[in-house]
Amino acid sequence: MGQIIQIKADLPKPLFYRELEKQLRVVLGDESNRISRMATVASVLGETKKFLWAGFYLVEGDELVLGPFSGPLACFRIKKGRGVCGTAWATEKAILVPNVHDFPGHIACSSLSNSEIVIPIRDRNKKKIIGVLDIDHVDVNGLDEDDLQGFKNIADLIG
Ligand code: SME
Repeated sequence: MGQIIQIKADLPKPLFYRELEKQLRVVLGDESNRISRMATVASVLGETKKFLWAGFYLVEGDELVLGPFSGPLACFRIKKGRGVCGTAWATEKAILVPNVHDFPGHIACSSLSNSEIVIPIRDRNKKKIIGVLDIDHVDVNGLDEDDLQGFKNIADLIG
């Protein structure tokens, strides 16, 4: 394939995400398979080595089911309304959790995770939620509003 994602590690966050999104658009091209696109985004986010876990959960009935990810093993199924992922799905709102220990009902797939962002993903005509993008960080306050905006833009590359 020959395409390599190269982003300077020390860029300020808004520039980092702008560059990441730009390069992802090139890599994803016009591939239409959603799972392939998710797998590629998860791989690239893993390659940045900035996050503990980065991946997708897909809506299946009244549950989210684990999709493509990079990072440690994670729970397979999350009920609607449960945890950060199930709450983002139920409320149809992106959630930034600076400290997961402060989020009632947070599901600790890894005890190493201390902050988290979950972005609902809508299908192309922007009606239905088809899944969520979930990012975990090892630090409390490891993720902030700049990360939230960056991941909203990245999630838009999937729907
Ligand atoms: N912490 C999530 C569960 C998924 S893992 O972080 C990969 C939650 O509370 O929904």
